[in-house]
Amino acid sequence: MKALEEKIKQDGEVLSGDVLKVDRFLNHQIDTDFMFSIGQEFAQKFQDEKITKILTIESSGIAPAVMTGLQLHVPVIFARKHKSLTLTDDLYTANVYSFTKQTENQITVSRKYIEPNDRVLIIDDFLANGQAVFGLLEIAKQAQIEVAGVGIVIEKSFQPGADKIKAQGIHLESLARIKSLTDGQVEFMPE
Ligand code: G4P
Ligand code: NA
Ligand code: NA
Repeated sequence: MKALEEKIKQDGEVLSGDVLKVDRFLNHQIDTDFMFSIGQEFAQKFQDEKITKILTIESSGIAPAVMTGLQLHVPVIFARKHKSLTLTDDLYTANVYSFTKQTENQITVSRKYIEPNDRVLIIDDFLANGQAVFGLLEIAKQAQIEVAGVGIVIEKSFQPGADKIKAQGIHLESLARIKSLTDGQVEFMPE
């Protein structure tokens, strides 16, 4: 998505440790008109997939997920992150390790909002190591529902997540694909 690449070039900041900061439009302040166009883009890419629901993780996945749900006229469920020590009978749970933060989070989704014939689209803001997506895939597996695909706003293609998802035969659409963040420069993958 050309407009997203432009936005990243204009507003993105490359931090040490191969981290791209996009707090101006995605991870802190949200550019609502721009996020609306992100939703349109995902909706168009997955329009033939008979999506019944969108699945994401709080917090930064929610904005692109909601904009996509708005276009496809389907609800959005965001998995919650918390270490639950109490009864989890009514929840699907998966463990997600964050390499960036070096913490393990348990993510949970209430069984109440998943239906047997659901066909979900997983949406997230970043794809790096793929831990978040694999956590959501694990929940879909437990719920025995179909995953129609995965939509990512910014893929860091030099990290292993994207290849691991594609290796499973999953339909992955990333709106921007970053080849490298070396020397403070954002280099995109060729189209
Ligand atoms: P993974 O899910 O792909 O394995 O990601 P990883 O563990 O490497 O990263 C953990 C968190 O950091 C995730 O957000 C992920 O979206 C985010 N992240 C990874 N690389 C970058 C980057 O270059 N820039 C930014 N801005 N974020 C990155 P999270 O912990 O789920 O936080 P949030 O959704 O509450 O914001
Ligand atoms: Na995220
Ligand atoms: Na994030």
